[in-house]
Amino acid sequence: ARDAAVPLDLAGRHVVVSAGGTREPLDPVRFLGNRSSGLQGYALARTAVARGARVTLVAANVALPDPAGARVVRVGSAEEMREAVLEAVQGAGGEADAVVMAAAVADFRPAGYRDSKIKKTPGAEPEPIRLVKNPDILAELGARPHGDQVIVGFAAETDDVLANGRAKLARKGCDLLVVNQVGEDLAFGRPDNAAVVLAADGTSTEVPRGPKEALAEIVWDLVAARLKPAPG
Ligand code: CTP
Ligand code: CA
Repeated sequence: ARDAAVPLDLAGRHVVVSAGGTREPLDPVRFLGNRSSGLQGYALARTAVARGARVTLVAANVALPDPAGARVVRVGSAEEMREAVLEAVQGAGGEADAVVMAAAVADFRPAGYRDSKIKKTPGAEPEPIRLVKNPDILAELGARPHGDQVIVGFAAETDDVLANGRAKLARKGCDLLVVNQVGEDLAFGRPDNAAVVLAADGTSTEVPRGPKEALAEIVWDLVAARLKPAPG
């Protein structure tokens, strides 16, 4: 039975959520990765399903069960995530109503992929790993014509959290940016999170430390307030 206290304000809407952290392969057994657990993205997917949305969850390298009621697309690298996200946001049913980039996307990937395992050579120093830039998926979403689609980014900052967040919101062309302060024991892999949600209209919403579900609900409140009335 559904919880009557949960608003069905996302009914009839399609939302795309990315979660987890990309892995950029070096050779068949190694990759460059990050510490994202996927918990925040999964909380966003679960809460959106509960609010009535059709949910596509693009998940990178998470060890979490599929949320009931969401379509899950699994990816590995940033380039795979870009393809899956772009396909989902311009899916068969037309443009998604909202997209939330909660995934930690690697900024760089190794310049070359080696088909066979990199071996050490006795007496020789290791080769440096040369990196190239990955596509910025969120910036691409913000720059492409996207109608009334509401675009949400996440940012993990260690210093000058608000100033960096404001600059990033503008740079990426998103409607909302959820800014977390990260450090050794903050955010990653923990069930709770504290954040400030910055909006392109200049407003901001402080979210006190609490479960990632609570932050997810606030994100959907802010998204729902920005959705244009559904046609029909
Ligand atoms: N992001 C993305 N594609 C990338 C990098 C980041 O879509 N190649 C998205 C993330 O999913 C997140 C937002 O952009 O929603 C902000 O990520 P962040 O790493 O904080 O921003 P960057 O622009 O990469 O800036 P920084 O140099 O601080 O890492
Ligand atoms: Ca980055």
